[in-house]
Formats: sequence, C-alpha cells, structure tokens
Amino acid sequence: MRKFLIAGNWKMNKNYDEALQLARAIQQRAVNEKKINIGVFVPAPYLREMSLESPDLIVGAQNIYWEQYGAFTGEISPPMLRSLGISWTLIGHSERRALFGETDEDVNRKTVAALKHCFFPIVCVGETLSQREKKTTLDIIGKQVKELFYEIPADMARSVTVAYEPVWAIGTGKTATPDDAEEVHAYIRMIITSLYGREISDEVRILYGGSVKPSNAASLLKMRNVDGALIGGASLNKEDFISICDTAVSIDKREGK
Ligand code: 13P
Repeated sequence: MRKFLIAGNWKMNKNYDEALQLARAIQQRAVNEKKINIGVFVPAPYLREMSLESPDLIVGAQNIYWEQYGAFTGEISPPMLRSLGISWTLIGHSERRALFGETDEDVNRKTVAALKHCFFPIVCVGETLSQREKKTTLDIIGKQVKELFYEIPADMARSVTVAYEPVWAIGTGKTATPDDAEEVHAYIRMIITSLYGREISDEVRILYGGSVKPSNAASLLKMRNVDGALIGGASLNKEDFISICDTAVSIDKREGK
C-alpha cells in the first residue's frame, strides 16, 4: 500500500512570519498522523527553521543543484541542504523548466545528484496546453519520465516520487478530470514498470498537481494510481490545505473497500 503524500509547494510566497505561522498550523495537524505523509516545500531561506519547528512534517526544498560546491552563484547543493537536515526536494517543476530554462537533461542531473546524497526527490513532469490539444500528452510524459530516470539504478529509483502536473492546470483553476489524471498516472507507472519491474513501480508514489483544492481533492485522490497531491495556491491557506489532508485520510483504497 502506498501512503498518500499531501505536499504544499509554497513557491515564492509568504514572508518569514507568515510562513512560520502556516508551518505551525500544519505541523499541529500532522502530530500523530500515521495514515498519510504531509509535506511543505518552502522558500530556501526558511528551510532550517521550518524543519526544526516541524518534526512531523516533510520539509523540503523547491530546487537543488547537481554540483557539490564551487563557483555557482545563487545555487544550493545537495550537501548544503543535507547539512541543514533537509532530505526532500522538488525537481523540474514546470516553472523551473519554463522560466529558468531547465531541460530534461538538467532534471536528470539534479535527480541523480539528489539520489547520490540520499534525498527523496519529487520530480515534476507535465504537458503544455498545446501538447495536450495535439494529443501528444503521453509522448511528452513518456519522454520526460524516461529521461528523469536515465542511468538511475533500481535501488535508487525507489526513492523517487513523480509529480504529474499538467502545465495548463497550474494556477489556472483548471484541473485534469480524474479520468484524464488516472490515464497519465497509469502510463507513468507502466513506464516505471518497464524500466525497473513491478516491485519498484508499485512502490513509487505518483502525485497529481494542478489546481487541487478542497472541492476536487477527493475525486482525484480516489483514482487508483493517484498517490497524493502537490498543491500550490491552496497550500498557502491553512484551512484549505488541512481540509485536503483530512480528505486524504478519509479515502481507503484497499481492495474491497
Ligand atoms: P496550483 O495548485 O496553484 O495550481 O499549483 C500547482 C503546483 O504548481 C504545485 O507544484
């Protein structure tokens, strides 16, 4: 059984005091929560404080670089994050790809570097609106997924979480229908099976992201291959985020339920 992971991607939002308040509220919700994992991916300057304050949350970075040290102004390396006690990171978010020019090759390099330093990376894939309209969604996703796992051995692959985030659904209020999301999630799992076999693909969590909110979370999370959510806008509001966590707890996908 894959545990749900409900993760907030705060992006470049919240000043320090606001961030601390939000993290505290979510931490309170996470105390004694055994059924799901709850995570927050916070702006880099807040990582240390948030992780110390939030022992029951996954606290992760929004980005990571593949080199360890050196002349790479502005970048943050895996050993630096590890030295802050951080072991989770997002990689290849569509905003990084679109606004900061990250390629599939960069995403693979970051994933390899993160895994070598024992991180749990959440690697984002997703098609644009025009790619969906041209019905090339599965081709695009297939390429992104194969490239992200390029030269990653099986024992490391199991630490990866994939997030399917259709670009056209991010911050737009438009969400993939549960059936559309399931189609892509099942396809991603099939590719992972072809690369690593059934045992590992059964273990890898595949999250959905793109305008997830309290009103649509249940229908998405009920789908067989949707193992959680990566939430932008709604994760900035504690009531909304906690409500999505509560929804996840209420869903039981075990056989016969
Ligand atoms: P929204 O939930 O605001 O659409 O953002 C999704 C996202 O980009 C999460 O990484």
